[in-house]
Amino acid sequence: TRPLRVGMIGIGTVGSGTFRVLARNQAEIAGRAGRGIEVVIVAARDLVRAAAIVDGKAALTADPLEVATHPDVDVVVEVAGGTGPARDWVLAAIAHGKHVVTANKALLAVHGGEIFAAARQRGVSVAYEAAVAVSIPIIKALREGLTANRIEWVAGIINGTTNFILGKMRDEGIDFGSALAQAQALGYAEADPSFDIEGVDAAHKLTLLAANAFGMPLRFADAQVEGIAALQAQDVAGAEQLGYRVKLLGIARRRADGVELRVQPALVPAAHLMAQVDGSMNAIMVKADAAGLTMYYGAGAGSEQTASAVIADLVDVARLDGTHAAQRVPHLGFHAHAMTALPV
Ligand code: HSE
Repeated sequence: TRPLRVGMIGIGTVGSGTFRVLARNQAEIAGRAGRGIEVVIVAARDLVRAAAIVDGKAALTADPLEVATHPDVDVVVEVAGGTGPARDWVLAAIAHGKHVVTANKALLAVHGGEIFAAARQRGVSVAYEAAVAVSIPIIKALREGLTANRIEWVAGIINGTTNFILGKMRDEGIDFGSALAQAQALGYAEADPSFDIEGVDAAHKLTLLAANAFGMPLRFADAQVEGIAALQAQDVAGAEQLGYRVKLLGIARRRADGVELRVQPALVPAAHLMAQVDGSMNAIMVKADAAGLTMYYGAGAGSEQTASAVIADLVDVARLDGTHAAQRVPHLGFHAHAMTALPV
C-alpha cells in the first residue's frame, strides 16, 4: 500500500513535535497504520527556521493554500492556529477532497459547524483529538468508548497554562505574571495568552466536548466564561488554608431544557482527585448513565504531547481512507431535537 501523504500547515510547537515523533517512531506508526505516513510538504511563516526542522525531508512553501490544494497530499494537518485564514485553508483542503487533522480548537469551536458540514458533503474526515486536552484521547472516549451512554455531565481541567499558573502561585507564592511567563517559555500558552487566562481556550474545548457528549451544535458563544486573571496569590493561599484548591473548571451539564456550558475558577476540596491534577496536566470526568463515572488524566499542553494526538488521528485516517471516511465527522445535532446550550 502506498504511504499516506501529509501536507502540514504550520511548523511551530505542535508541527515540529509532529514532524519529530513521526520520524522517531516511524516503524511503530507504519505498523499500526498499515502503511507509512510521510510529510511531503510543509507551509511555514519562517522558512529558514522550518528548513532546519524539516531537514530536506519535505518540500517547503510560504503559501498554506498550496498545501491545502496540493495534488500529492491526502491529508492536511492544520497546526498553524488562528481562525480566519485557517478556516479558508481547511475549507479549501476539504473542497479538494483532502482529509483534515487539526489541533485548532478555536477554529472548530467557532467554524466547526460549517467545516463539518462541508466535510460530510465531500466525504472526507475532519479529526481533532489534539484540540482537546492534547494527550488524553477524550474525543475517542466520548465517540467510541462511551457511545452507548446518555451523558449527564462532563467536567474538567482543560487548560494546561492556567493549571500551571495556579500551581506556581500556590507552591511558590509567585505572582501571576511570572507564572505566565514560565508557561509561555515552556510552550504551553496560546499565541495570544489572554485566551488561556480569560478561560476562552477552555471554553473552545468545552464546546467541542459538549458537542460530542450531547450531540448538540457547537455553541461557543453561549458559554459563560470567567478566567483567572483577577486571582491573586493570596486568594490561592487562602483557599488552601480552608482545605481547597483553586482550579479553572470547564463544566457542561445536561438540564431539562438544554446544556449549561460554563468555565470558571472553582474551589475543589483538597482531597478530591481533581485537586491533585498539578502542573500543566489536564483531567476530565464524565458522568454517563450506563458506564457511570469515568475520569481521564494526562498532559494538557506541550509539543510532543500534542503531536501524539495529531498522529493518532493521522493513523485513523490512514486506516479509514476511502472507507466511509465521513463517518468520522461528528454528527452534531443527532438528537431528534438537538440539545441547545443554555445561557447561564
Ligand atoms: N494553551 C493550551 C493549554 C494548549 O494551555 O491548555 C493546549 O491546548
